[in-house]
Amino acid sequence: MCGIVAYMGDRQAAPLLIKGLKRLEYRGYDSAGIAIMNDEQQITAYKKAGKVADLEANIGDQDTQGHLGIGHTRWATHGEPNDRNAHPHFGHNGLLALVHNGIIENYQTIKTQLQNKGHQFLSDTDTEVLTHLIEYIYTEQQVSFEEAVRLALNEVHGAYAIVVLSKKDKDTLVAARKGSPLVVGVGNNEFFLASDASPIIEHTKSVVYLNDGEMACIRDRKLSIQTIHNEKKDVKIHQLEMELEAIEKGGFEHFMLKEIWEQPRSIADSMRGRVRSDIGKIQMGGLLEYQFKLVNARRILIIGCGTSWHAGLIGEYLFEEFARTPVEVEYASEFRYRDPVIYPEDVVIAISQSGETADTLAAIEMAKEKGATILGVCNVIGSSIARATHAGAYTHAGPEIGVASTKAFTAQVTVLAQMALWTGYRKGAISRTQLQNNLVELESIPPLVEKILQTEAHIRDIAAKFCDARNFLYLGRGYQFPVALEGALKLKEISYIHAEGYPAAEMKHGPIALIDEEMPVVFIATQNAQYEKVISNMQEVKSRKGVIIALVTEGDVQAAEIANYVIEVPPVQEAFAPLLTSIPLQLLAYHIAILRGCNVDQPRNLAKSVTVE
Ligand code: G6P
Repeated sequence: MCGIVAYMGDRQAAPLLIKGLKRLEYRGYDSAGIAIMNDEQQITAYKKAGKVADLEANIGDQDTQGHLGIGHTRWATHGEPNDRNAHPHFGHNGLLALVHNGIIENYQTIKTQLQNKGHQFLSDTDTEVLTHLIEYIYTEQQVSFEEAVRLALNEVHGAYAIVVLSKKDKDTLVAARKGSPLVVGVGNNEFFLASDASPIIEHTKSVVYLNDGEMACIRDRKLSIQTIHNEKKDVKIHQLEMELEAIEKGGFEHFMLKEIWEQPRSIADSMRGRVRSDIGKIQMGGLLEYQFKLVNARRILIIGCGTSWHAGLIGEYLFEEFARTPVEVEYASEFRYRDPVIYPEDVVIAISQSGETADTLAAIEMAKEKGATILGVCNVIGSSIARATHAGAYTHAGPEIGVASTKAFTAQVTVLAQMALWTGYRKGAISRTQLQNNLVELESIPPLVEKILQTEAHIRDIAAKFCDARNFLYLGRGYQFPVALEGALKLKEISYIHAEGYPAAEMKHGPIALIDEEMPVVFIATQNAQYEKVISNMQEVKSRKGVIIALVTEGDVQAAEIANYVIEVPPVQEAFAPLLTSIPLQLLAYHIAILRGCNVDQPRNLAKSVTVE
């Protein structure tokens, strides 16, 4: 949520910041801005509501000379998205400029105190209040710039990643984080700061991840790190493993489509080095130290948000089937605010693509305090959640830029399947032969996904029939119920068509009242133990004139006869079928959204990484 970028070095800052903001735009895109300090130590800000391209057009050929600057792309929390509320914000006397990702919860109290001292505010944001506070401390208390930032941060509650510029301090950037991510890129006599590595990767692979409560000060081209409680920290440089191509569209029209098509590769990558079906072995190196905990877990609690929560629901079925461990799946946002009963013998699996979701992070901290073991299933290496957990398994899906999650979801499910099989075998819940047969099946998935992708034209034709629908219903049973939820989420996220996912049997307890000839109903009706029941549910919809799109196993005639439209997927055992059935639903949502003229990579109001609660 919100993207921050900053630069200090010998190059012109403005073009680097604009390019960096474009890379970060998936994090928020309702307004954007940059502030540049020139060699005379004047700071000029350029801000515009809308996309980074609107900002760029607005800047046009204005003079943006300067080697030091900060930039921001916004996802509004306080104040509507307009030019005035766009970042960067200035202090009372225009001495400081600041960009911020997060929420300052006590901003109103501070604002009132500063107003009483004569401060006037130009925006409705919490960020401007923080800028005024830092500037006030800087001017009143005669402390250094970084000390003023530190003292101010000790007065605020909430979450933040900030970068601040000061007119009085040549060649200086001060940054801090608590609850929102921030990475420092260390180049050759130049520095970058960004919400994630994507704007940095093309300039340097050396990065420093700031921890919560840490501040970075780059002064005279030297980086130092301290905590907001004034404790000095070592600068630990990590090398990024990501390649630039991974964050570019590679010939696809949209990131989302590219990521959908990457799934044969990303699913295979999530098994690489772990699954050896030829010898019936599975290794989960990152979990080894906690093997005992997982095998002896009294209960597994899976937490996540959005799509990651849907992957968690499939994880529940997988752990029940293969490991016979009781599982509960919780929305992190609910879990963190209850007083859940957690035992030290519980294992919490936290699922997060970004590894930065504020609610998931807070839920982890709470469960940790209660003594549970926390394992992460994250995509972004080095992310806050990956670092907050005791151990984990990365999904290795590669950077996911499209706001609607696709390849991260299938990689999460694949990793959960591996964890469940690994645990089940070690517990003795499945035999060596069962393990091997399941691994063979799991390894067969990538080419089957490829086969489904080849049917894209057929799915696009179906999309064309339904792009004007106002509502959609997605129904499935067992392992396909979470797929129904995920299919509905994909559609509503990017096409703005109202869609609901439901367990097919529950339809009779409500959604059936909605069915008429206007209502498309997507049935996930692949061959499984409940197939006949799903067929009955299809009949119930048909007799009420609902229009049926059915996902069926190749060669199925029974479901195909009832349905109006059919999408076939290859046969695979029930537990792994979500890895196949989710693919056509992603493509269906994508094509419906495109036909409706929607911006699929940046759907309105959404953000890829939700770093505020
Ligand atoms: C946002 C994203 C979703 C994602 C959810 C959880 O809502 O738009 O795609 O599923 O956050 O994010 P996480 O990074 O924790 O998986």
